Amino acid sequence: MRVLITGGAGFIGSNFVRRAVREHPDWQITVLDKLTYAGNLANLADVRDRITFQRGDIANRDDVQKAMDGAQVVVNFAAETHVDRSILWADDFVKTDVLGTFVLLETARQVKLERFIQISTDEVYGSIESGSFTEESPLNPRNPYSASKAGADRLAFAYFTTHNVPVIITRCSNNFGPYQYPEKFIPLFITNALEGKSLPLYGDGRNVRDWIHVDDHCAAVDFLIANGQLGETYNIAGGNEVENIEIARAIVKQLGKPESLIQLVKDRPGHDRRYSLDAGKLARLGWTPRRDFAGLLRDTIAWYTSHESWWRPIKSGEFRQYYAQQYASRV
Ligand code: NAD
Ligand code: TYD
Repeated sequence: MRVLITGGAGFIGSNFVRRAVREHPDWQITVLDKLTYAGNLANLADVRDRITFQRGDIANRDDVQKAMDGAQVVVNFAAETHVDRSILWADDFVKTDVLGTFVLLETARQVKLERFIQISTDEVYGSIESGSFTEESPLNPRNPYSASKAGADRLAFAYFTTHNVPVIITRCSNNFGPYQYPEKFIPLFITNALEGKSLPLYGDGRNVRDWIHVDDHCAAVDFLIANGQLGETYNIAGGNEVENIEIARAIVKQLGKPESLIQLVKDRPGHDRRYSLDAGKLARLGWTPRRDFAGLLRDTIAWYTSHESWWRPIKSGEFRQYYAQQYASRV
């Protein structure tokens, strides 16, 4: 089977490619990735000879036509993904997340695809005080990242209903694990702690996310390629709702660093208080995640500790410039 994986050089995409190579030796995999600041061929180093890599933009018709030629399955991970960046400048979010998904869907109309998996996010629902969102809950995105993801999510659904593109939409909760770009909460805090730098906790640190290990997210997507119903949307959740401050404390504790490294800083504008998903629909179909959050977080902290050669070059380059801007507006 020919499978096109967009955004395969990013965090979740590269973990998915690694899983696909391991679990599906019969798949012929093409990765289409623009290699933005978040894309990194080092993430694919161990599987590079098992895939075809095409550098290109999902918003560019020629790039997409070439990459999708002969594909039966498309999994669209490509996106601009960091909420804080979308607050500073949302241009690339609209271009990639909305326009890019549009170009993929338009091209998919001309190809005999069996599945088009649109990787959406739980952030499209917005924040919830109590209870959990089901797939039927209204969308209420509250920052430019989640709004552009919501645009892509509904566009994908429209191409199913209007043009019969074989779309399945997934909305997953916050991922953690190896190869996550160290601007995101967990890898930022681990690597800052390792460097003896402060850990900038937004607001009162009591915001809640439902964390899922990236391997579980990838396993769920793989499961849905085989078992998902066309036109359906599936929440994917870890079932691990944790306050940010608890994670920050676990990180400094495991690394033997003082709690004084954790510093409350000015809150992120429009900061969603709590994300919570009801993943019963996926469970009824037959898939549930592993539940050992503490153990998986420990493994993740250990991975960043033993992979300095992966994150140090990232943190010393473009990253510094971004943080200068970010801290100037936030601290
Ligand atoms: P990431 O930022 O680590 O990786 C994104 C990848 O997309 C990079 O390799 C980048 O180079 C590539 N890319 C960006 N613009 C592109 C373009 N125009 N054309 C081709 N490639 C492009 O992101 P991630 O955390 O791995 O997220 C992957 C997907 O999963 C995204 O769609 C995101 O919205 C979704 N998601 C993420 C999470 C999470 O917690 N990280 C949770 C739910 C859903
Ligand atoms: P993040 O990894 O940016 O994901 P999300 O898309 O859910 O916002 O952030 C996860 C949580 O951590 C979120 O509540 C914001 C918080 N956070 C901080 O407190 N400090 C930080 O430096 C970052 C990046 C995030």
